[in-house]
Amino acid sequence: MPTPPIHVLPSLLSADFGHLADDLKMCEDAGATLLHLDVMDGHFVPNISFGPFIVDHIRKHTNLHLDVHLMISDPVRYAPAFRAAGADAITIHVEAVGPRAIADAIKAVRATGAEVGLAFNPDTDPELWFPHFSAVDLVMFMTVYPGFGGQSFIPQVRAFIQKTRAAFPELDIQVDGGINRETISDVLADGANRLVAGSAFFGDADKAGFIQDAEQRSN
Ligand code: DX5
Ligand code: ZN
Repeated sequence: MPTPPIHVLPSLLSADFGHLADDLKMCEDAGATLLHLDVMDGHFVPNISFGPFIVDHIRKHTNLHLDVHLMISDPVRYAPAFRAAGADAITIHVEAVGPRAIADAIKAVRATGAEVGLAFNPDTDPELWFPHFSAVDLVMFMTVYPGFGGQSFIPQVRAFIQKTRAAFPELDIQVDGGINRETISDVLADGANRLVAGSAFFGDADKAGFIQDAEQRSN
């Protein structure tokens, strides 16, 4: 069975928010087709970023696929607002929802019309949640503790990626946190195919090369 295609998703958290339109164009010019947007509520994670208002402005400046990562305590409540603002995909954290409510939460996000993703903190074993994977479009492993860009990759998450890929050969498996030109090799070998990169991408002098080098590899 074919593994899904490799994509790099620039994480806008590392952009210059004073010149967002310029940085959006820079992502497009570098060859990105998907963009990762980090929403933080200061409650689920110890940081606050932005909400639907900013997503709406981003949407007006780009046609890129907007992959919205909700690091918030009540993702079901706010998913419709992010969809209305232009989210193409909405990823919610299993830790925010809990096992009893997850099936309904997936349905609620799906009902907005967005693609649905499930995100996992570095300490969360995904296996308990495998029964829900057929109901979502992607799963995302946090390879740092969520809340801040520029942290170091946590290698212990690699085993979770490996066992998920073994069980779901065709699923989109995304990784987020500490992804750079070095760690990309490891996570591709483990079976990840969607690579979120914030500080490494925005700090790279050759952004087109960063994307091409990753997307031309095979996993
Ligand atoms: C962290 C965010 C990430 C962040 C990644 O909580 O979810 O998307 O932007 O940043 P880097 O690539 O710098 O680790
Ligand atoms: Zn993220």
